[in-house]
Amino acid sequence: MRSIALTNQKGGVAKTTTTVNLGACLSEMGKKVLLVDLDPQGNMSSWFGLDIHSLEKSMYNVFLQEVYFEEILKDTCVHNLTLAPSNVALAGVERILANEKERDLILRKRIAPVANNYDYILLDCPPSLGLITINALTFVKEVFIPLETKVLALNGLVTLVNTVQIIKERLNHKLEVTGIIACRFDSRTNLSNEVYKQVKERFHEKVFNTIIRENVRLAECPISSKPITMYAPESSGAKDYIALAKEVVGLETTREKDMPEE
Ligand SMILES: Nc1ncnc2c1ncn2[C@@H]1O[C@H](COP(=O)(O)OP(=O)(O)OP(=O)(O)O)[C@@H](O)[C@H]1O
Ligand SMILES: [Mg+2]
Repeated sequence: MRSIALTNQKGGVAKTTTTVNLGACLSEMGKKVLLVDLDPQGNMSSWFGLDIHSLEKSMYNVFLQEVYFEEILKDTCVHNLTLAPSNVALAGVERILANEKERDLILRKRIAPVANNYDYILLDCPPSLGLITINALTFVKEVFIPLETKVLALNGLVTLVNTVQIIKERLNHKLEVTGIIACRFDSRTNLSNEVYKQVKERFHEKVFNTIIRENVRLAECPISSKPITMYAPESSGAKDYIALAKEVVGLETTREKDMPEE
């Protein structure tokens, strides 16, 4: 089992787009995949056609320890792709749990019993470094950082990598940033090329070779309630996410497959 948080405190960098489409591509390669929506915006849950305002049980109830994790799971239109949904209620969790002693460990404890049912667990994080993201980073072993290559935001990236390092030292010794993903790449602009070059110079092999190009089909995709490989299989977006999934699977041999530390 590989557990991966897709995180970047910057908004709109393609975290959700990458979680959905990478997850779907991994499922289509025969992997059992669990997607966990950790964003109160519920974008990933809406993407799969859920009416997030009428969810009876969601990650909110999991964080408050009112339900077992498996009680909230929903099947998706993709075989072997399961979703743990969220909605705006999740925003309340930070305040409700503010004084809880082991508040950083809740997610790890709640997912642990079912984690080995899956080959991949992908967590779509909110655009912040608050309690929910900390819970994600305490559970997973790997961090993928989607990066919008249309803006030079190296400072934000350094802050994020430092945060991951602090959590690694204090809460989760096995945590590693294993992949920076260049997204929304526009080869016509010097800026995209320059951003990729600078990130590669600084983070070397941590940057995936696959680049996700800017593609209007990807922007349209959420309203179809399907992943890109079903909505527009011939698009560059589908090809890029399939290539990314192959590269991710190629790293399996170099990553341990056991459970995160208790
Ligand atoms: N490769 C791409 N080509 C074109 N549009 C894209 C691409 N990737 C993402 N987008 C669009 O960019 C916007 C932001 O993407 P997304 O919602 O995945 O980002 P996010 O990091 O999850 O945002 P948030 O921080 O709000 O959760 C969306 O409108 C999405 O459709
Ligand atoms: Mg998102």
